[in-house]
Amino acid sequence: MRVTFTANGKPVEADDVWEGESLLYVLRERVGLPGSKNACEQGECGSCTVYLDDTPVCSCLVAAGQVQDREVRTVEGLADENGELGLVQQAFVDAGAVQCGFCTPGLLVQTDALLERDPQPSDTDIREALSGNLCRCTGYEKIMDAVRLASARTCERAASE
Ligand code: FES
Ligand code: FES
Repeated sequence: MRVTFTANGKPVEADDVWEGESLLYVLRERVGLPGSKNACEQGECGSCTVYLDDTPVCSCLVAAGQVQDREVRTVEGLADENGELGLVQQAFVDAGAVQCGFCTPGLLVQTDALLERDPQPSDTDIREALSGNLCRCTGYEKIMDAVRLASARTCERAASE
């Protein structure tokens, strides 16, 4: 079957998609967006998290057909059109919150969604929001630092506007 949807603001078309194919597979293998990672393929790790319309989802659990005519935003879509890193991406770099990087795309999307609904989350809110995103490397402290930094910068940006 053919699936058409919007990915990071651009219309995309994927052909020869079989019924059981996941959105994650389509993104990585058919439309050239390999940022979302496949670590467990069963909804356990969060490394494949993308926005579907405005909601973060595990793209390994979404059937490709479900995204027909909908909007997907991946970790690549958090950067601007010139490839300049977005605020959350830059905060993870600056806080040193990336080691192997496998979990990072999902954490970035989930953090972006958290700050969208609450620019000043408490540590408990951050932990809760990121509880479905597993990291095997960092011990989470640098990730917490990165989210706090992104939160501070989000608030600074809002104050200066
Ligand atoms: S690859 Fe989708 S949740 Fe792990
Ligand atoms: S940085 Fe390696 S899994 Fe998180």
